[in-house]
Amino acid sequence: MTQSSLTLAQMATDVLNCADGRAKTALSHKHAAAWRASRAGDAPEIAIGSATPPLHPARPAEPELLHPRDVPKRKPGSPQGRIALLHAVAHIELNAVDLHWDIIARFTHVPMPLGFYDDWVKSADEESKHFNLMCDCLESLGSHYGALPAHAGMWRAAEDTVDDLMGRLAVVPMVLEARGLDVTPGMIALFRKAGVQQALDALEVIYAEEVGHVAYGAKWFNFLCGRDNLDPKAEFHALVQKYFHGALKPPFNEEKRADAGLPPDFYWPLADGEAPAYAR
Ligand SMILES: [Fe+2]
Ligand SMILES: [Fe+2]
Repeated sequence: MTQSSLTLAQMATDVLNCADGRAKTALSHKHAAAWRASRAGDAPEIAIGSATPPLHPARPAEPELLHPRDVPKRKPGSPQGRIALLHAVAHIELNAVDLHWDIIARFTHVPMPLGFYDDWVKSADEESKHFNLMCDCLESLGSHYGALPAHAGMWRAAEDTVDDLMGRLAVVPMVLEARGLDVTPGMIALFRKAGVQQALDALEVIYAEEVGHVAYGAKWFNFLCGRDNLDPKAEFHALVQKYFHGALKPPFNEEKRADAGLPPDFYWPLADGEAPAYAR
């Protein structure tokens, strides 16, 4: 089958079934470019179609995947600690590539405007770039993705929400990716202090682009609530309590969360500790 005869759902499944990180992200970029060209009218139109995405995406033989409690902790201020941090981010980015293609392939039975697909294709393409940036940083520091163990269980949120698009939007972009906005400034500060310019530049790109992914989550979550006449805040609270295991952890990046369309009364009531008066 030539590329132009693939549907978007088949392209997404192709990426999910590719195990090697660099190969997966190259395929992701190629399919994203084909989708963009089709949408701009510069190439044959690509249908959304339908496919059978795997329950778990293909993964490389390395890194070894361990329970989070068994992943060795390293001092963040040491060179080895910085490598471990970049390795952990690379692992998150590779999962994010698959999460964005999975939402495209998994829910084709729910009628959505084409803009929904545009947003997740763009996000998947950006995650592919993020993974490669992290791999480049690791390689400059004498390491590589796969050299250290990584967290198992990153796919749990996808499995839990395999038949619930609103649950998927609530937990993946609006909880997990929003958490990335909370923790990335600390990582940026750490690499700035250490004077590791390549990692600093890469993390700045990731930080800027992740706001968009959270915003797409909030946008399509609100869209579905509006279509079904549901109260978005109450629905978000119910779905996060159903699918997310544990409380949200402050401090929150309220400024970037606001940029992404996440108001404080969405996340504070789900957090550890007392919500400030303005967020109740
Ligand atoms: Fe990312
Ligand atoms: Fe993301």
